[in-house]
Amino acid sequence: MIAPMGDAATVLQRCDQLARCSEEPGRLTRRFATPALSEARDLARSWMSDAGLNTRCDPIGNLVGRLEGEGDRTLVLGSHLDTVPDAGRFDGALGVLVAIACVERLREAGRRLPFALDVVGFADEEGVRYRTAFLGSAVMAGRFEKAWLARVDADGVTLADAVRAWGGAPETLAAGRRQPDDLLGYCEVHIEQGPVLDGLGQPLAVVTAIAGRTLAGVTFEGAAGHAGTTPMDVRRDALCAAAEWIGSVESEARSADGLVATVGEIAADPGSANVIPGRVTVALDLRHAEDPARETASAVLRERATAIGEARGVDVTWEELQTTAAVPCSPALTDQLAAAVAEAGHPAPRLPSGAGHDAVMMAAVAPVAMLFVRCRGGVSHHPDESVRAEDVAAALDATIGFIERLAAGTRPA
Ligand code: GLV
Ligand code: MN
Ligand code: MN
Repeated sequence: MIAPMGDAATVLQRCDQLARCSEEPGRLTRRFATPALSEARDLARSWMSDAGLNTRCDPIGNLVGRLEGEGDRTLVLGSHLDTVPDAGRFDGALGVLVAIACVERLREAGRRLPFALDVVGFADEEGVRYRTAFLGSAVMAGRFEKAWLARVDADGVTLADAVRAWGGAPETLAAGRRQPDDLLGYCEVHIEQGPVLDGLGQPLAVVTAIAGRTLAGVTFEGAAGHAGTTPMDVRRDALCAAAEWIGSVESEARSADGLVATVGEIAADPGSANVIPGRVTVALDLRHAEDPARETASAVLRERATAIGEARGVDVTWEELQTTAAVPCSPALTDQLAAAVAEAGHPAPRLPSGAGHDAVMMAAVAPVAMLFVRCRGGVSHHPDESVRAEDVAAALDATIGFIERLAAGTRPA
């Protein structure tokens, strides 16, 4: 069953439509539990219904569309519907829309599978609003931590209140966990978000593993004061301490093979050109394919922050916001996916993922596999994200081939 280019064109046109659901005029930003995310979820829901899926939202607001099959078990396909600020239009959305397009193809062919298919649009993968990635898949995987409910967003709204305002009930989140025995697997199609496939001139890759990540909030507490009258030698400038530390974050990452470290969020208080910054908060994102290397770097950077603070009379506090270990993809499912890619007529290079994905959480309840799609220049988390229609068509062929391979190996109940 070869997916015609028309299917890929529909997927891309829907990516464009979803990109119009944004919190901000002129750029794409769609955080958890916002009206923009509701709008995107409603659109995805209508496409799911048109494809013949029975839709529902789980307790955190993940959208789930179900296609019943002959057997009791379920294959889950999907990705996330939220975005980073000023995002591209394919990170997350592509995986949800390719999955819906697969269901449309199966339906047109009158195909009934020996298992059910659940297509999921996760409500939060990026973690922008609450500095906790994977809220949606954490609920589905039974890895949601109750303590997260007390976290506040930039406007002081707790996660518990955001869940309520979005129609959910925080006390029922545990019920969103899927039973491992029911699940055949989880497969996610996603743009590569890196330059390897573009460099190779190839459309697809299968993912071997997803890097681990430490997300930490670091606060530097010095003393605010008058910028014109406070002598330099008595200052306890929190931003200068943070700046020195941020420089050492970069050198640490440059000196360690495979380590990437980013300080992508910073707030200086009180925030005036003529006031010495008294308090600075930053977020550190640290990743490595090998957990011990990431853990060592985290300890080194924590000690470095303390030492810089001590030398400058600045108090430093370190809050570990979220840590996820590296996750291997299932060798069995990945082999099936690689075979489906080859059958669709494409090379199937194997790549690790430096980016995080919902598969990280889903691995707690199901074997996981991921298919990467080339994106131009490897650009992602940026409005210039771009994919080719023929690569999307290749991803559709490979995903349908993967589903059929699993069907061939599954006896109806
Ligand atoms: C998700 O896109 C992440 O890796 O931060
Ligand atoms: Mn992303
Ligand atoms: Mn993503």
